[in-house]
Amino acid sequence: MKTKVLIIGAGPSGLLLSLLLKRKNISTIILEKQSSEYVANRIRAGILEPGTVKLLKKAGISNRVTKEGLKHNGFKVAHNNNIFDINLKYLANDCVTVYGQTEVTKDLMNKLTNENVKIIYNVPKINILNIEDKPLVEFDFNKTKESVRADFIVGCDGFHGISKSYIPNNIKKIYKKDYSFGWLGILSDTKPISDELIYINNKNGFALCSMRSKKRSRYYLQCEINENINNWSDDRFWDSLSKALPNDIKNNLQTGPSIEKSIAKLRSYVLEPMSYKKLFLAGDAAHIVPPTGAKGLNLALSDVDKLSSAFISFYEKNSELDLVNYSNVCLSRVWKTQRFSSWMTNIFHNVPKEDNFLKKLKHIEMENLLFSIHAKKILANNYLGKY
Ligand code: APR
Ligand code: PHB
Repeated sequence: MKTKVLIIGAGPSGLLLSLLLKRKNISTIILEKQSSEYVANRIRAGILEPGTVKLLKKAGISNRVTKEGLKHNGFKVAHNNNIFDINLKYLANDCVTVYGQTEVTKDLMNKLTNENVKIIYNVPKINILNIEDKPLVEFDFNKTKESVRADFIVGCDGFHGISKSYIPNNIKKIYKKDYSFGWLGILSDTKPISDELIYINNKNGFALCSMRSKKRSRYYLQCEINENINNWSDDRFWDSLSKALPNDIKNNLQTGPSIEKSIAKLRSYVLEPMSYKKLFLAGDAAHIVPPTGAKGLNLALSDVDKLSSAFISFYEKNSELDLVNYSNVCLSRVWKTQRFSSWMTNIFHNVPKEDNFLKKLKHIEMENLLFSIHAKKILANNYLGKY
């Protein structure tokens, strides 16, 4: 087989890259480790920045997000029993859209199927040869050995992928932080407690009231890093969540059976540079942010926007400039997003064994946010992806 751009990984990054290139007749093949059912049903976060919605429009898949996405003009912050508004529209003149990443993935998969783009699922093992010059990718499929020759390889294979291992150790630099707590999340077909998301910090740490639709809620609680999910019955979750809620709204909580329950570890990670010779990394393959700022998907798709434009310049104008600059251009946004996500994480969580000086600083930081219009404007712009 032969293609212009070989993409490893059919998450949102790989799928969107393929679609944006298809619109300019640049051929791609996607190789994915998991089955299509697994990819389509993974539960992930659900807040889209305005720039992300624009990008989905550019890719020609905005029908459903425009119809079914919920436009949120703001969110709420609850701190020690008080609730404050962060009015995005007023503070930064824009809004976010609540639309699950699962739905974005399904929209992308449907569109690519209609456009006959080749996605090969269930590929357990990939080997990349000759990354410096004319890449060749070998893989096993249905017990036979296959290979694809490509001009470029793009690693969209997430944090646990293999593509980043092809950047030599003396070239790559890794920056990372693992947090000492996790998030316990549940999804339930219950009416959300509020029209807007509520980010909570109280004496037990962080909690988040989010949603997927007007009938489907997503809630999170800060938990121990090695928490065992089997210790969390639905009743225990609802009871702990209720205790975390400000008194004014406690009684509005609608409970019901969970349809998904999981624990996520929180991590910040950046790999530099995001390209090497004919290999480019995009999305979670190159960086991870803790979910507190709702940035993972938005940041991943922003890489893809830049990378697709760079490939289009290469094939249409014979210019390598944007490909050469790709890593530096992306890393500028990546670090701004890391700063914001780490700040959000820090002020909303209670860190085990944190000393009282840092605790006090955190408290002051939260007060400053809630009583300074200037601080609120910075938060609103950052949340919207306007750095
Ligand atoms: N070979 C082929 N595919 C692989 C391999 C491999 N060796 N390793 C991983 N993959 C696949 C995974 O199965 C997954 O489908 O790569 C895909 C990576 O997808 P994501 O992890 O969703 O990463 P990305 O597309 O960059 O999306 C970023 O997803 O994880 C969230 O918070 C993140 O919202 C962000 C978004
Ligand atoms: C979610 O709905 O899953 C969600 C929303 C906002 C976040 C993180 C996760 O900051």
